[in-house]
Amino acid sequence: MTENHSNHTDNPRVLTGITTTGTPHLGNYVGAIRPAIKASQSSDVDSFLFLADYHAMIKSHEPEKIHQSSMEIAATWLALGLDPEQVTFYRQSDVPEIMELSWILTCWTAKGLMNRAHAYKASVRANEANNDDADFGITMGLFSYPVLMAADILMFNGQQIPVGRDQIQHVEMARDIAQRFNHHYGPHFALPEAVIDDNVAVLQGLDGRKMSKSYNNTIPLFETEKKLKKSINKIKTNLLEPGEPKDADDSTVFQIWHAFASAEQSADMRQQFAGGIAWGEAKQCLFELINQELAQPRQRYAELIANPAAMEAILAAGADKARAVTVPKLAEIRSAIGIRPMGA
Ligand code: TRP
Repeated sequence: MTENHSNHTDNPRVLTGITTTGTPHLGNYVGAIRPAIKASQSSDVDSFLFLADYHAMIKSHEPEKIHQSSMEIAATWLALGLDPEQVTFYRQSDVPEIMELSWILTCWTAKGLMNRAHAYKASVRANEANNDDADFGITMGLFSYPVLMAADILMFNGQQIPVGRDQIQHVEMARDIAQRFNHHYGPHFALPEAVIDDNVAVLQGLDGRKMSKSYNNTIPLFETEKKLKKSINKIKTNLLEPGEPKDADDSTVFQIWHAFASAEQSADMRQQFAGGIAWGEAKQCLFELINQELAQPRQRYAELIANPAAMEAILAAGADKARAVTVPKLAEIRSAIGIRPMGA
């Protein structure tokens, strides 16, 4: 593979994007952010992490929400210790080569492949269930977003793609598109693979279902200490009285405790449940445990949100690092498809 490696090593490339819709919550932290930051600290991979702001347009046409979410997500990752020196941290929209590649790949993507995308099919099914036209409310952005995601990945020769289960199909589509392209033009793209971490917890929300924005049961990651305490008090429990033994495995309070606790703290709390700890006390312990882990990042988060220029500077440096890869890569791809200077 011909590529300019300035700024980067030959380590495997780990790449993932975060769509800039919504405010990060504890479930995002435990399930995605914390493990990704930890993985990015390893020196035997090259990590690429980006704000997928053009992807946000698929879900939202509200400028203020997209903007606010970009700020919050950037501040969240930085506050939690993502090191922009060690990782290539950038905003998708700052790297225009991705959008150019997206068109090139669109011309190599079978429409039938996109027809099979789960996210698109789910929208069609929802329309049919409502007796609406099958295409009602479906934009070309939603339909072809796996192509943009392929461009995100292939542009950087991303190899390991940590994603949630719902995104596995998209990574496989990116691989499929890369194979078709390589078959025709030669080996230009690395073939990406989804990486699913089975050890990370899927956190339960206030009502005991999976914590998710769509269930409206989340605990925001950096709400104030007071609000955090309030949220934790809202976690649904059963009606067992203090002194009555409680089943740790059937409790959201314990499930969240477990995601933040050491093995020892976990075992200890399990015993306290069996011994009949009061819900109020268990929740107070949970608040203290979470708060201890988040108090400092919360402070850094507030500082970052108050200083957007500092975040801009970090993202500008990230875009430079990213474009050191994408500018030569796109030149290579354009030349491969026959778009090159006259006579070259
Ligand atoms: N579509 C992904 C999601 O909704 C986010 C994303 C965009 C992404 N581009 C990516 C993830 C490239 C991995 C690689 O979660």
